[in-house]
Amino acid sequence: CNVVVLISGSGSNLQALIDSTASADSPACIRAVISNRADAYGLERAKQAGIATLVLDHKQFDGREAFDAALVEAIDGFDPQLVVLAGFMRILTGGFVRHYAGRLLNIHPSLLPKYKGLHTHQRALEAGDSEHGCSVHFVSEELDGGPLVVQAVVPVQSDDTPDSLAQRVHREEHRIYPLAMHWFAAGRLRLAEQGAMLDNQPL
Ligand code: GRF
Repeated sequence: CNVVVLISGSGSNLQALIDSTASADSPACIRAVISNRADAYGLERAKQAGIATLVLDHKQFDGREAFDAALVEAIDGFDPQLVVLAGFMRILTGGFVRHYAGRLLNIHPSLLPKYKGLHTHQRALEAGDSEHGCSVHFVSEELDGGPLVVQAVVPVQSDDTPDSLAQRVHREEHRIYPLAMHWFAAGRLRLAEQGAMLDNQPL
């Protein structure tokens, strides 16, 4: 299963995905990593792993539609069955999302539907939540709103700061994102009309 990963930053999730494909029997193969930022450290991680990289700077394009059209062309050049957003900090157009319907995954650092958008760790702390976490979901046209695939719960500690909480959530992200990618690559995970299905059971 050919996978293209989109990043904007450090790429620690990308690293977890790369590491998870190391064994010879991995059903997923990461064909390319595309970043909208030339300074994203994740590009180094990809190069280290011998994966093709590409930078498409959104600032070089005249608007979201033009950027997304170029992005689709670049991605489709690698012929992926799955596109994985791993800290890709651009809002995607409806046209992009529809083009990859059912084969576009995202990870979000909250227990969705709670805390869509940014600053999720701070918001969970401010709300006094006892539990926080992360979610993998199929991407729909609603930001951080698509069908859930898998979540991991992280207990909030009384002395947590946004940073300490983010660190523990990240560790869980690195566990559940490879899991979801492997499910998809092995043909076990799909998007049906009623939501995400694993082994033909609703999630
Ligand atoms: C992660 O927290 C992910 O949930 C969010 O962006 C962050 C990316 O981190 N979508 P990294 O670049 O994978 O380290």
